[in-house]
Amino acid sequence: MDKQFKALMVREKDGLFNASVEQVPFAEMRQNEVLIKVNYSSVNYKDALSASGNRGVTRRFPHIPGIDAVGRVASSASDRFKEGDPVLITGYDLGMNTWGGFGEYISVPAAWIVPLPASLSPFEAMSLGTAGLTAGLSVFNLIEAGIDKDSGQIAVSGATGGVGSIAVAILSKLGYEVVAISGKNDEGFLTDILGAAASVPREAFVEKYNAKAMSSAEFAAGIDTVGGDVLSGILKSLKYNGVVTCCGNVASAQISTSIFPFILRGVKLIGIDSVEQPINFKEKIWNLLADEWKPTRLKDMTKEISLEQLADVLKTISEGKAKGRFVVNHRL
Ligand SMILES: NC(=O)c1ccc[n+]([C@@H]2O[C@H](COP(=O)([O-])OP(=O)(O)OC[C@H]3O[C@@H](n4cnc5c(N)ncnc54)[C@H](OP(=O)(O)O)[C@@H]3O)[C@@H](O)[C@H]2O)c1
Repeated sequence: MDKQFKALMVREKDGLFNASVEQVPFAEMRQNEVLIKVNYSSVNYKDALSASGNRGVTRRFPHIPGIDAVGRVASSASDRFKEGDPVLITGYDLGMNTWGGFGEYISVPAAWIVPLPASLSPFEAMSLGTAGLTAGLSVFNLIEAGIDKDSGQIAVSGATGGVGSIAVAILSKLGYEVVAISGKNDEGFLTDILGAAASVPREAFVEKYNAKAMSSAEFAAGIDTVGGDVLSGILKSLKYNGVVTCCGNVASAQISTSIFPFILRGVKLIGIDSVEQPINFKEKIWNLLADEWKPTRLKDMTKEISLEQLADVLKTISEGKAKGRFVVNHRL
């Protein structure tokens, strides 16, 4: 095996963080149970936070971000996996303080690994990636709460982003009527590619549904990926027994609501975490994503990029300008 591997390394100098592609000696990588040769990694909002030196995500630098990866086992000290096995990793400490998928190799505990489902190609697995798992968990929670395709319209925020776009695509495939909330004027992407029934501009949504403590009851459920006034608006506009999941704080970590949606309409707010879920539950959601939930136009939602293009893409994501999914192909 090579004595070095290629990676996007983030280094700190005088309080500033700089990401560049480097050859990294294997000797510098912390050794774990299973060494994996990475084919693809996906680009997520959290990677942009890590690459910009956000201490809530990554405490130690130099660091290789990348919170998910798909590849083949290169060597294993665990009897659960053998050389050549196709595998998938999302979350836990990967890409946070453990070097992540923006390197050609990762070394992780066996307990973090999901076998790659047979009906998912490595490209599809990372086209979904952490965003897909999070969208899947959100959909799972709506279904568990009794929301079905006849319940009414489902509002999805951050709809052109990673989690939002996959949530819209899964729900549309399952026959739900989705209203996509987006800050971008891209009706074609939202309706033709993702399958939303309608879209509403983010600003108009915030203005319309936050005017009073309660708004007209319009949506059966919501999947919120941005927090702040958008989530506040969804809470106020849910129908009786409505449900909304929340997973992200791109807009804000604060919400502004009275308790009225909860005590007058029985609304439920469900928190979603994809990082620390038990591995068996992750595997269950991955099997759904690989099969009946797999978005039909996944390829059209995804751009393949090289490691060299990654720093620019991270910047686009941190500015909220990204559309769909970005997948790093280590062979490009
Ligand atoms: N809890 C978990 O396990 C988990 C897992 C994955 C992600 N997350 C979190 O979920 C959020 C979304 O992640 P992602 O990977 O989908 O990010 P992303 O690809 O960057 O998408 C975020 C989307 O949010 C919208 N947006 C951007 N700036 C905004 C603003 N100021 N106000 C309102 N909306 C804004 C944009 O969509 P539009 O232009 O279409 O509105 C953007 O594309 C992040 O906060 C991330 O940390 C949490």
